[in-house]
Amino acid sequence: MSDDKPQPARRYNYWLGGKDHYAVDRESGDEIEKAFPTVRTMAVENRQFLRRATAYMAERGVRQFIDIGCGLPTHDNTHEIAQRFHPDARVVYIDNDPIVMVHARALLTGTPQGRTAYIEADLNDPERILAHDDLTGTLDLSQPVGLMLVAVLHFIMGPGAANPVVKRLLDALPPGSYLAASNATKDFSTPEMAAAYDAMIAAGRVDAWPRDRAEFAGLFEGLEVVEPGFVAVSEWRAENEPQPRPAPAEVAVYCGVGRKP
Ligand SMILES: C[S@@+](CC[C@H](N)C(=O)[O-])C[C@H]1O[C@@H](n2cnc3c(N)ncnc32)[C@H](O)[C@@H]1O
Repeated sequence: MSDDKPQPARRYNYWLGGKDHYAVDRESGDEIEKAFPTVRTMAVENRQFLRRATAYMAERGVRQFIDIGCGLPTHDNTHEIAQRFHPDARVVYIDNDPIVMVHARALLTGTPQGRTAYIEADLNDPERILAHDDLTGTLDLSQPVGLMLVAVLHFIMGPGAANPVVKRLLDALPPGSYLAASNATKDFSTPEMAAAYDAMIAAGRVDAWPRDRAEFAGLFEGLEVVEPGFVAVSEWRAENEPQPRPAPAEVAVYCGVGRKP
């Protein structure tokens, strides 16, 4: 396998222990791991947050989901979790990496009653996503939707840059909808780790924009924030996960879930 540029989906798959990655992805993944040795724990815990957040929403009656930046299929994908609660659950997967879409089309088939759709699109173009026939033809946007923006918002680089995108997507969803999101952060890091991260961003060696608590919380403006609020992905409703939990500094990713009133 070869390719000239590392891609987040394949690098994340590498950290998760999957097999869908190229040498450039492994090199980039190893370089980040040198600066941040617990990056694999981060990937696993972030994925576990996605699973718990999907189950949380499904348990409260949400039967349709938009999962943007869905990544390469793994076990317990969003529709598999949702369809355990509601066999008729519908999920629209979106990613901007064409390779993700090839794998997703092949693997992400669900229950006979439920439906899944796949759209290759960029999170930075919410208008196109919302107007896409495969989205409007799969989901009923008059009914609550779980919007999953898990480990994807940090690819919108720059302070405040993700807010208008999230707002536009939430504006299109009815009351009772949820947002589940996670984003890299330096808030839990030592000053040395934070400085190393800044140096990698400055050198163009890392493509995930870290957000502090205030900026991350701002993405949930207008929503009722679900307990326990904004915490490390390893700590969100993780009572039934193996204990002790990884420390926030080991995962360095904020998460939260909010409900549209
Ligand atoms: C770290 S993976 C997260 C996968 C999954 N959401 C999870 O949390 O397990 C990030 C995914 O976001 C996708 N992505 C990055 N930037 C994107 C953008 N601007 N629009 C859509 N997808 C994007 C990548 O291709 C990748 O599949």
